[in-house]
Formats: sequence, structure tokens, C-alpha cells
Amino acid sequence: MRSEPDTTATTDWVPACAVARAVAFVPSEYLVKPASERWERREAMRLRRAVFCTEQGLFERDDRDALDREATLLVAVACVSGMPEQVVGTVRILESAPGQWQGSRLAVHPDYRRVAWLGSELIRLAVGIAHARGARQFTAQVQSQNVPLFRRLHWQTLEETELQGRPHHRMQAELAKYPPCTGTAGFVARRAA
Ligand SMILES: CC(C)(COP(=O)(O)OP(=O)(O)OC[C@H]1O[C@@H](n2cnc3c(N)ncnc32)[C@H](O)[C@@H]1OP(=O)(O)O)[C@@H](O)C(=O)NCCC(=O)NCCS
Repeated sequence: MRSEPDTTATTDWVPACAVARAVAFVPSEYLVKPASERWERREAMRLRRAVFCTEQGLFERDDRDALDREATLLVAVACVSGMPEQVVGTVRILESAPGQWQGSRLAVHPDYRRVAWLGSELIRLAVGIAHARGARQFTAQVQSQNVPLFRRLHWQTLEETELQGRPHHRMQAELAKYPPCTGTAGFVARRAA
């Protein structure tokens, strides 16, 4: 007598190589642009809390402050099959006095650091937008461990300071290296193959 296959049995088995692929999956395309959607703002704030409160312990529960009401928020969004999926980086920019612009709260999700130049691209867009809006100076308080990154991107130290009990450099971008960036499209950043 021929035995029928057992159709009630569930097949949870997944090949180990598929699991490895799933864990290692990192999108190859990212939009670096001004935040335009509510979910992008919400996820950017969540990312900032994860980085500046939980990871770095610079703030207790929430890093938002009064500048957020005025600032332009930029985001790096990971795309899957061409569709925006997840905010994985952010920075904010603000004109603090006529022609004087500041950037702050630069953060990239830990899984996406050193992957697709997202920090560098956020800085490029931040300064480029400010330049297009009439910036004569663009500065940021840079945590000391990030000074080499900013130097490579044509920033110079104005003074060494301490903020939130941590060493910082107040740095200035060389505006001539940042072509004005107009419009809302931003850039597409790609992970190297
Ligand atoms: C600082 C920070 C935003 C940088 O983000 P990032 O996306 O890793 O930045 P980039 O990828 O542009 O550059 C970082 C490094 O990755 C390298 N890199 C980028 N893409 C790469 C790639 N595809 N392959 C190999 N290396 C790569 C860059 O050369 C750079 O090297 P360095 O460490 O020698 O400077 C991120 O580390 C972060 O969020 N840190 C915690 C919060 C923080 O410190 N904020 C800044 C406050 S001033």
C-alpha cells in the first residue's frame, strides 16, 4: 500500500545559507534628502534617541530641544527595490544669525556606518543646502573622535571645547568645497559592491 505524504507536517526548515544571507542583507541604495514625510521625521527622532541617549548617554531620555522647531531636518533613507524603507541617518541644519548656519545631531544607525558614506553625504547635503540658502559660514560642534572625518571633508577647527562633558571641536566647513544644493531631491548614495 502506497503511503500518502503527510500534508499536516509544517516545514520550518530554512537553509543555513539563506539565514546567513538574510542577516547580512544591507540595502545598496539610499536617498539623502530633506525629511518630507511624517514617518521620516518620527524615525529620525527615534534614531537620534537611540544614538545620543542610549548609545552615547549624552542625554537622558530625549535629545530634542528648541532648535528642532526651527531646524531643517535631513534624512538618509535605505531603499529596498527602489522603495524607501527605513531612516538610517539624520542631521539638522539651522540659520542661527543672518548668513551663519549650524549643523547638529548627525547620526547614522550603527548597522549602516562605514557602509555607504552616509555620514559624509549627510554633511555634503547639509552644507550644500545652507550654501544655497545664503550661508556665509557653516559650523558644527564635532565630537573629537569624528574630527578626522570632518577634516577630510574640508572642515577646520576654530576652537576646542567641551560639551555635555565630552571633548568637541567647533569646526567650520570650507564653503567653496560645497556646491550650493537647491531643490528637495537630495542625493542618491550607493553602497560599494
Ligand atoms: C559619525 C557618523 C555619523 C559617521 O557616519 P558614517 O556613515 O559611518 O560616515 P562615513 O561612512 O561617511 O565615513 C566614516 C568612515 O567610513 C569609511 N567608509 C564609508 N563608506 C565605506 C565603504 N563603502 N567601505 C569602506 N569604508 C567606508 C570612511 O572612509 C570613513 O572612514 P574613517 O573612519 O577612517 O573616517 C557615525 O559614526 C555616527 O552616527 N556616530 C555616532 C554619533 C556621532 O558621533 N555623531 C556625530 C557627532 S559630531
